Amino acid sequence: MNEQDRIRTVTGYHMRSKHRLEAYAAGPAALDWDDQPEPFRWFDGACKIELPLLADQIRIGYADLYRTDLPPSALPLFERLSILLERSMGLAAWKSYGDQSWALRCNPSSGNLHPTEAYIITTGMEELSAGVYHYLSRDHQLERRCESGIGPASSMLPSDHVLVGLSSIHWREAWKYGERAFRYCQHDAGHAIAAISYAAAALGWTARLVTGWSDETIIHMLGLDRDDDFGNAEREHPDAVLWMHPSKANIGSEPEAEPVLAAIDAGIWHGRANVLSPRHDYEWPVIDAVSRAAIKPARMTLPSWIPPARPEPLPSACTTPAMSLFRQRRSAQHFDGRSAITAEQLFRMLDITLPRIGMAPWSSLPWRPRIHLVLFIHQVHGLRSGLYLFMRDENAATLLRESISRSEFHWQKAAACPSHLALYSLLFADCRKTAALLSCHQPIAGDSAFSLGMLAQFDATLQEGAWAYRALFWEAGMLGHTLYLEAEAAGVRATGIGCYFDDSFHQILGLQDTRLQSLYHFTVGAPLEDRRLNTLAPYSPRRHD
Ligand SMILES: Cc1cc2nc3c(=O)[nH]c(=O)nc-3n(C[C@H](O)[C@H](O)[C@H](O)COP(=O)(O)O)c2cc1C
Repeated sequence: MNEQDRIRTVTGYHMRSKHRLEAYAAGPAALDWDDQPEPFRWFDGACKIELPLLADQIRIGYADLYRTDLPPSALPLFERLSILLERSMGLAAWKSYGDQSWALRCNPSSGNLHPTEAYIITTGMEELSAGVYHYLSRDHQLERRCESGIGPASSMLPSDHVLVGLSSIHWREAWKYGERAFRYCQHDAGHAIAAISYAAAALGWTARLVTGWSDETIIHMLGLDRDDDFGNAEREHPDAVLWMHPSKANIGSEPEAEPVLAAIDAGIWHGRANVLSPRHDYEWPVIDAVSRAAIKPARMTLPSWIPPARPEPLPSACTTPAMSLFRQRRSAQHFDGRSAITAEQLFRMLDITLPRIGMAPWSSLPWRPRIHLVLFIHQVHGLRSGLYLFMRDENAATLLRESISRSEFHWQKAAACPSHLALYSLLFADCRKTAALLSCHQPIAGDSAFSLGMLAQFDATLQEGAWAYRALFWEAGMLGHTLYLEAEAAGVRATGIGCYFDDSFHQILGLQDTRLQSLYHFTVGAPLEDRRLNTLAPYSPRRHD
C-alpha cells in the first residue's frame, strides 16, 4: 500500500466511524456480558516485582508543576519509577455497588475499558535487572518480560533514563463500541501520554515522545510480535514510547533504537499473555485495516517545533499536592445544571492547553498544536453564554476563519480575556440543549459550566502521513487530560465525551469540507455524586510501604 492509499483508508475509516443523528457508527447489536474482556492483562509465568507505594510522600503542589525551576528529585530511580507508574497508569480506587466491583485508574478510558498497556525498558538498577517489563496495574507490579542480554553498563541508555512503552488492545474497546473503538484507543493513549508526562514532571523528569522510531521497532522492543507468548490472547498494537530524562532542557537527540534492540534480541523472554474474552462474537475488520494503514514508519514524523515565549501560566488557587490530584481525577457522571465557574478559572484552563517550553504535558509532544477548541459557554461568570473559539496556534487563524464560515458569527475577542489567549466569541445564545444533543443526547454536555468540541487540522495533518491520524487523537486525549486535572484543581470536575454527532457539530460551525474535523468533546462543571457507590482504596493497606 502506498502512502496515498493509506491516507485514503484512514480517511475512509474516519468517515464511516462517525456517529450521525440518523445512525450510530456500526457496533455490536447487543452487549455480550459473558464476553466482556478481563480488565487486566498479565503474563503467566513472568517473574513479578512488587513496587512500593510511595506516591503520597511527594508533596509538590499541582500548581507548582508549571514552574520552570522545579528541583530535581533526589529519590532513587526504582522509587521514582514506582511512583511514576502508580500515579499515571495505576489504580485510583475500587468502586462497588451491590455485588459488583470495578477498578478506576489514574488515567481515564472510554467505558472504563482501558485498552492501554504500559511497559518499562530499563538498563537496570539494584532492584530491577536490565530488560523489558510489563506493568500490571491491578497489583502495582512489574512483570519481567525480557531479561536483556547485555548488562547495565551497556550503551542502551544512560542509567538514569527510562523508556515507557505504550500499546493498545483494540478488542477491549471494540467489544463495546465496534468500529468507533479505534478512535477511543488513540484517545486513551493520548490520556496515558499526558498522565505519564505530568507524573514525570512531579518527579523531576521530562517525558518526551520518541518520534524517530517506527511502529515495527516498538512492536519488537515490547515483544508484541512474539506469537508463542500471545497464542490465542488478544494482540497488542504499538502506540508510542516515552523517554524519561532528568532534565528540563531539550537534551538533544533522542535515544538510538539499535542498542536497545540488540540488548533485547540477546535477551530471554518470559510469560504468556492471558486471554481476555472467551468468544469474540463480533469481528471488526475495519479496525484491523485502519491499524495497518496508520502504522508509523521510522522516516515519518511531524515537523518539530519550539513553542513561542509566553507569559507565565495564569495563577491557580489549587493547593492540592500533584500526586493527590492525579489520583483524585474522576469523570463526572452528572452535573448540577446550575453552578458556574468564573471567567478567570476558564482562562486558566485554556492557558494550560498552550505548550510552553519544558512544561508538562506539552513538553512530551514536539509538534505544533493542531487542535483548537470550540466552546459552548453555559455558566461562566463574566462571559456571556454562547459559542466561542479558542485558537491554540494563531498560525491557523486563516484556516479557522475561512472554514468556520457562518455569516452570523461575530468573531469578537472575548471580554476581559488576557491578551495572549486567542479566545473569540462567535455567537451569544443559550447552547445547553444544542450541546447535549450534539453529544449523543448526553445531558452532561448541557448541564455543565461549559462543554467543547476539539477541532483538528485534519486534511493537512494527514498529508504528513496516514499515521498522523493517530497523533491527532493523542493530542486530543492530552488536551482532555489537562482539562480533567485543571477541573479538579478548580474544585469542579470534567468528563471526556467520545460519543458525539460529528457532522452535526461541523454543520453548526458552517464547515464545508474536511480541512477541520472534530475529534473529541469535553465537558466541565459542578458534579453530582452518586452516593450509592462505595469507594475502596486502590491497593491493600499493608502494601503502603
Ligand atoms: C476517550 C474517552 C471518551 C469518553 N466518552 C464518554 C462519553 O461519551 N460519555 C460519558 O459519560 N463518559 C465518557 N468518558 C468517561 C469514561 O466513561 C470514564 O473515563 C471511565 O468510566 C472511567 O472513569 P474515570 O474517568 O472516573 O476514571 C470518556 C472517557 C474517555 C477517556
